[in-house]
Amino acid sequence: MARTAIVTGGTRGIGEAICLALQDAGVAVAATYAGNAARAADFTERTGIRAFCWDVADHAACQQGCAEVEAALGPIDIVVNNAGITRDGTLMKLSYEAWKAVIDTNLGGCFNMAKATFPGMRARRWGRIVNIGSINGQAGQYGQVNYAAAKSGIHGFTKALAQEGAKIGVTVNAIAPGYIDTDMVAAVPADVLDKIVARIPVGRLGQAHEIARGVVFLCSEEGGFVTGSTLSINGGQHMY
Ligand SMILES: NC(=O)c1ccc[n+]([C@@H]2O[C@H](COP(=O)([O-])OP(=O)(O)OC[C@H]3O[C@@H](n4cnc5c(N)ncnc54)[C@H](OP(=O)(O)O)[C@@H]3O)[C@@H](O)[C@H]2O)c1
Repeated sequence: MARTAIVTGGTRGIGEAICLALQDAGVAVAATYAGNAARAADFTERTGIRAFCWDVADHAACQQGCAEVEAALGPIDIVVNNAGITRDGTLMKLSYEAWKAVIDTNLGGCFNMAKATFPGMRARRWGRIVNIGSINGQAGQYGQVNYAAAKSGIHGFTKALAQEGAKIGVTVNAIAPGYIDTDMVAAVPADVLDKIVARIPVGRLGQAHEIARGVVFLCSEEGGFVTGSTLSINGGQHMY
């Protein structure tokens, strides 16, 4: 059966790879983005996938945005909560605003999107939610109390919502990527990145499509017995 998916932060990086992989699997896909309209327009031109702009940290905007996507593409069967930001700094330097922005976007966004789409999945007795966590939510990371807390929260959110979805055909899983070659990692200073790569057993950064393959599996019919799990895709950097 044809399915419809929404991928938050789908216009670049890991999200773009997820959109393309789901599209290849025969799913009708919508992407969202926060405000980089030039990248979104380029994405849509290259892929034919529509992009919708709203802030996943905004609860009302998620309700309204998902209604718009459903009007355009049909009921949402699959949600990939991929939108995420970093605002790094040690606790001594981290502002309350940087703490709140990361928690509200990375973790609050998962709640807001689930609130907008879970009732429809429940009514139709089928759904897939995949939340993109992080190795740094599993292991912690210096200078990232906000990011690590939000991503760690995603793993708890996943296990709790999976219990609510299990009897109604809705699976909820997480993927915890290691370091993946995207704009987010390009922002890490080169000397720091060299040290990070030196700690990855496979000896390289991951590629966005390697995360996307995991998402496609979790969203497939065959993935129906997998719920509440976290799939670590990190080149062996953290075996959890
Ligand atoms: N890259 C890594 O190594 C890595 C490792 C572990 C986990 N992750 C996680 O994987 C996910 C994707 O990472 P990435 O590296 O692909 O990121 P990225 O290249 O920085 O792209 C982020 C995407 O999220 C969107 N976005 C950001 N804030 C948003 C908001 N408030 N509302 C809606 N959309 C928003 C961006 O939209 P605009 O284009 O409009 O800004 C963009 O499409 C994130 O959750 C990240 O934490 C990444």
